[in-house]
Amino acid sequence: MVDTASLQIGDQSVELPIVVGSEDEKALDISKLRAETGYVTIDPGYGNTGSCQSDITFIDGDEGILRYRGYAIEDLAERSTFIESAYLLIWGELPNAGQLNEFSELFTKHQMLREGIKHHFNLFPPNSPPMAVLSSVLNALACYYPELLEINDEDTFTEAAARIMSKVRTIAAYSHRQQQGHHIMYPHPEKSYAENFLHMMFSQPYNEFQPDPELIKALDVIFLLHADHEQNCSTSTVRMVGSSEANLFASVAAGVSALWGPLHGGANVAVVEMLERIRAENLSVSDFVSQVKDKKAGIRLMGFGHRVYKNFDPRAKIIKKSCEEVLAKLNIDDPMLAIAEELEAVALEDEYFIQRKLYPNVDFYSGVILRALGIPKEMFTVIFAIGRMPGWIAQWYEESKSTKICRPRQVYTGPVERSYQPVGQRS
Ligand code: CMC
Repeated sequence: MVDTASLQIGDQSVELPIVVGSEDEKALDISKLRAETGYVTIDPGYGNTGSCQSDITFIDGDEGILRYRGYAIEDLAERSTFIESAYLLIWGELPNAGQLNEFSELFTKHQMLREGIKHHFNLFPPNSPPMAVLSSVLNALACYYPELLEINDEDTFTEAAARIMSKVRTIAAYSHRQQQGHHIMYPHPEKSYAENFLHMMFSQPYNEFQPDPELIKALDVIFLLHADHEQNCSTSTVRMVGSSEANLFASVAAGVSALWGPLHGGANVAVVEMLERIRAENLSVSDFVSQVKDKKAGIRLMGFGHRVYKNFDPRAKIIKKSCEEVLAKLNIDDPMLAIAEELEAVALEDEYFIQRKLYPNVDFYSGVILRALGIPKEMFTVIFAIGRMPGWIAQWYEESKSTKICRPRQVYTGPVERSYQPVGQRS
């Protein structure tokens, strides 16, 4: 097997080392290219750029494969839990019973918010987007834990990671309650991760929310399926911010901001809005698909397409199945599910989508299932953020082992040097 590639630029020839990953992914190492030739590479959207070597998550987009630390997502979704998979992502191995117990206890220990933090929620105006609240309050945690701003050992990292993962669901639920004008519901030390979140969202004094175990499992699986996805927009943001040696709170708060957009985590809201629009305007699915293909209106089939998957997103298959099961269990006949299924069937047979290899992604059905669980639309992307937290933390920690700040180059295309004219001399 060749271990270098030759690049010819005019009469200069350079040898580029080839890096091969454990799943035989190949990359050209161009880290000395600029020093040796004066050239940089350009790759808008980074579709061909490996920003790092990582041991955490593997995706084969052509085959529709996703693995956390070597374990298939299908296997984890069926047999593991969010907390166990979080441990796997962060520490690289599945925990034994003692380690899992210790890890879970850390979440119970750190689930409360300091009273001071509660005041932050009152300062946001009504109808504040929960993603803005989440990002701000996560960042504000840095003010309460100055001892965790510099992480130089595993114990400090574990403390910071557990605090963030545990508190993120408390912050998310508090922001929802506050926006509803309801009192805050404290976390319950005996409830599991997903159950505790539902409790903080929906319990009332003397009236504890007691969801069916299958619904708790469905939410746990949603968190687990979102837990990591290698170098996507928000994870790259977290690693980029972390590379400046910014603290973990600031880095994950930046991840929340990156996730917010409709092309990324915000797609789960956009999908439901799209389904609502189709229903409200009484559009036929084929009319809507024609509008998408027409491109003039700038409408996309939200929840379809992916930068990496050119095949089914394996997470979408699991969520679709879970969605059908939850709706059947709750005896809900949601017209949104019927529209989504029809859209999927029409798109998968249509040349436009076939040619471009556009398949349903994780967001296509997640909104429908979250609706069934009673989660309001504005909280959907927050759920994604809670799920993604272990991935961001694992990726931040991996990045923290490197001492190199992430700092891409550019090709400047603006004006060449010109001289300053005083305002009176300008036309
Ligand atoms: N509906 C209609 N056309 C699409 C769609 C879509 N959802 N996605 C891509 N295309 C077309 C696009 O117009 C382009 O066509 P052409 O070649 O004629 O110009 C072609 O497919 C390639 O699209 P692209 O925008 O260059 O692809 P990308 O890899 O840059 O974008 C994407 C990936 C996910 C941003 C895009 O597919 C998209 O906007 N999808 C809808 C939003 C969405 O569901 N996002 C969630 C992604 S999964 C969760 C996550 O990880 O965040």
